[in-house]
Amino acid sequence: MDFQGIREEIKSRIDIVDVISDYVGLKKSGARFKGLCPFHAEKTPSFVVSPEKQVFYCFGCGSGGDIITFVMKEEGISYNEAIRKLSERAGIKLEPVHKQNIQEREVLLQIHKAAAAFFRGHLRKSEKALKYLHARGITKESIEKFSIGAAPEGWDGLLRHLRKEGFQDRYLRVSGVVLFKENNSFDFHRDRIMFPILNSSGDIVAFGGRAMDNVEPKYLNSPETLIFQKKRILFGLNAAKEGITGAKYINIVEGYIDVVMCHQYGFTNTVAPLGTALTDDHTKSLKRFAKEAVVIFDGDDAGIRAAKRAMPVILKSGLVARALLLPGKSDPDSFLRQRGAGDFKGLIADASSYVEFMLKTGGYGVDNLREIYETLASMEDTMLRANLVDELSKKAKISESMFREKIKEWQAKPTRSTRIVKPRVKMLDEEILLGIYLSVPALAGMFTALKEMELLENEFIKRIFDALFNGGVSPTIDGLSMICTEDEIAYISGLMVNPNVEKENIEKNVEDCIKNLRKKWVDKKIFELNKKIEKAYSANNREELALLNQENIKYTNEKRSMS
Ligand code: UTP
Ligand code: MN
Repeated sequence: MDFQGIREEIKSRIDIVDVISDYVGLKKSGARFKGLCPFHAEKTPSFVVSPEKQVFYCFGCGSGGDIITFVMKEEGISYNEAIRKLSERAGIKLEPVHKQNIQEREVLLQIHKAAAAFFRGHLRKSEKALKYLHARGITKESIEKFSIGAAPEGWDGLLRHLRKEGFQDRYLRVSGVVLFKENNSFDFHRDRIMFPILNSSGDIVAFGGRAMDNVEPKYLNSPETLIFQKKRILFGLNAAKEGITGAKYINIVEGYIDVVMCHQYGFTNTVAPLGTALTDDHTKSLKRFAKEAVVIFDGDDAGIRAAKRAMPVILKSGLVARALLLPGKSDPDSFLRQRGAGDFKGLIADASSYVEFMLKTGGYGVDNLREIYETLASMEDTMLRANLVDELSKKAKISESMFREKIKEWQAKPTRSTRIVKPRVKMLDEEILLGIYLSVPALAGMFTALKEMELLENEFIKRIFDALFNGGVSPTIDGLSMICTEDEIAYISGLMVNPNVEKENIEKNVEDCIKNLRKKWVDKKIFELNKKIEKAYSANNREELALLNQENIKYTNEKRSMS
């Protein structure tokens, strides 16, 4: 059974409503079920589950997908883990899958594994790379622990190696480790120190590459792929799990080398985002391992700004947040090498709470207090918030009741940090058509007009219909999951359950949407024709003019008949 087969089998045996009911209180409402969204804070339910379409969607925050997406998101586990878990629940035995029909995701993981081995092999031979790592004080043990490697200088050493290993170009093309241009193709990373980036199951899903000379960019991350989304992954988390459980808190630093050096100096509870700001997805995965996170940033303005942005995200997830700024121009790497583990430990012990940090760096002015209120108001953990409110009232010497009032006031308004995607009430014709196509297979025959013409404008929807009509992709979430990212699946799930898709007379709805698209297309045609006619006219090209005019009449007549 291939991966799509397994997904289908899971769904034929277990119902999405049963699974989601384990996590969310659901109430029946017409043909669907409604409840409070588990992925964002809300007081009135905007989370719907459709047993008939086997998808869920939140009209508040835009989360959506099928049973597999739900379990991944809710439990913070990988795709493979979710499949394993649900297969078990459904009583399906997973067989080892063969190389050819294995699902894309699996092949991409294999490609990354092979690439990492290639980079490690090259590092052993590369004097330049070994010298660089040595100069930076990175030990053999650290190289082993983080599976550090090196990308060779040539153009396509990795590409040739992977082809030789039997990986097909169609997978390499979307893997992110090789770039395919029109006439030639080459390795994405060249002449760099390579840090493998692991997902939560410990699979390599991308690489961060550091230049060894003054080459820009200093760090180059793999592009996002089906298996790699930057905002979900923290560098070092896999290596840090044990350390975090021991220390009971997490250190969050900024850079790859900072993580490696922290581990090397005994701070094995350290992770870093991949050169981006901290996200809710990051903190959600951290929350499974500890209750507290300390952000450790450089002491310059950029570091202060980064800490001010990161702490509210941490607090919102229900983790205690603390921050420390390193002196001068140092980062954890340079600080550890200059001052040692003892001083670093001391700094962590003295790290500031959120309130302390904000008052210390921003003072007692109205704007700063307001920013603190806003953050406190966005917190869902009331105990945690109460502690900070208490601290704030003591430090700012203002009555606690006034703070509570203020917080209520701020809570009533949507704040910057809690504002989320508004569901669009008005959908594009193309969106309605895709939603119906996926929801009501019986109407597929009505869509032939889309196959022949360039009616679709939206690039994403065009790509999907093209895959459905011409790419052999089956018109289900299972089929589309083979070619879409999780965010795209969420969006598609939203289209499927949107009320616009379920209007009374669904056939008429399809007809109208196609007609609207056709109208727009005819208008575009006429517009283009007129431009051509003008040109032919000034060039005095009569033959061409006659042809164009004929065509113009045809479309103008069609336009007339449509309105
Ligand atoms: P820094 O510029 O602070 O560098 O980038 P660093 O971590 O101290 O690196 P070294 O010590 O010079 O080797 C911090 C992080 O920002 C991301 C990387 O994740 C880096 O570790 N970054 C930085 C990029 O993604 N691209 C860049 O060009 C630079
Ligand atoms: Mn550094």
